[in-house]
Amino acid sequence: MTDATAIHEQTLAVLGAGSPEAISARFAEIRAHFESGAAGLPAGDLGAWTALRNAWLGRASGVLTAIGDNWLKPATPEQKRVVGKALNELKAHVEQTLETLKARAEAAGAGPLSGMDLSLPGVRRTLGTRHPLRQTLDELERIFRSIGFSVVEGPEIETPYYNFEALNIPEHHPARDTMDTFYVSLPKGSPELLLRTHTSPMQIHTMEQQKPPVRIIVPGRVYRRDNPDSTHSFAFHQIEGLAVDTDITFCEFKGTVEYFVREFLGQKTRTRLRPSYFPFTEPSAEVDASCFGCDGAGCRICKQTGWIELFGAGMVDPAVYGFVGYDAKRFSGFAFGMGVERMAMMRYGITDIQLFYQNDVRFLRQFE
Ligand code: PHE
Repeated sequence: MTDATAIHEQTLAVLGAGSPEAISARFAEIRAHFESGAAGLPAGDLGAWTALRNAWLGRASGVLTAIGDNWLKPATPEQKRVVGKALNELKAHVEQTLETLKARAEAAGAGPLSGMDLSLPGVRRTLGTRHPLRQTLDELERIFRSIGFSVVEGPEIETPYYNFEALNIPEHHPARDTMDTFYVSLPKGSPELLLRTHTSPMQIHTMEQQKPPVRIIVPGRVYRRDNPDSTHSFAFHQIEGLAVDTDITFCEFKGTVEYFVREFLGQKTRTRLRPSYFPFTEPSAEVDASCFGCDGAGCRICKQTGWIELFGAGMVDPAVYGFVGYDAKRFSGFAFGMGVERMAMMRYGITDIQLFYQNDVRFLRQFE
């Protein structure tokens, strides 16, 4: 505090201010000091406002308390009237000014630049990148949405009925050999639960819940009892597709698959269907695409065949309609199921599936 304020720490007698004029002059001095403190208050700084209020109105050590103690109390009865009146006026003024300043500080403090020093260097936040699997899923979803498919998801824990039986894979069917999986350990007598080996169970759930037309894709995680290596993982991702309606023929199937392949791998890409087998499609096919490395001429990527195997698909086997109460004479459709990791590996030229799961930022940062 400057000399001007120090006066409130001394009595009027010491200050030699006995007359009403001298007393008024001292109060004017104090008031001027308050004004300069108020004028210097930084806008929007509530902390500085609080400090100013405490300096003036603080009960223990505020200036006004000191004036009461040092000027008013020891004053003579005649002086007391003058001092008391001036002190009341000063107090009212201080309080009112502080109220106004507080409102101003709060209003400024709510503004976008409050408390911000624009001359400081900015804080650079490290932004993550979308995982290459997420990016691939997004792209696959975009393509199928654009031709009228909607996206649904389903449970990763399934009953054998949805994962196998209703897909026309009875208990001792050899197709189960390729889909060994993890079973949930449950108290004896509980119904069996397993981790789904493919997204196909959602074909059944969806058809149970809605009548045709059905046009869905199902992205999701699936599980198999596989030993990890550069192309196998015990957990990976698939996108299932299912379209069922009246009059869906092999033509619609082929057209949809070809459209997808061209959208995903480029307009020049050719598609080939090879006969295959799945218990829940008939006929079944493996969908191949002309190799993006050599355009069909033969190279290391396609093992000199010119073709790359993409995914399994086919026309929905009428036996499946029997499980969901669809009239197999009225409705027909196609289904497909593709591995998302496989699609991503092709797209980005990744040769080890394990890289997707190791979360090494040096790998992930390459997919901005
Ligand atoms: N579910 C099959 C698999 O995981 C893929 C598939 C889906 C095949 C739909 C045909 C139709 O191998």
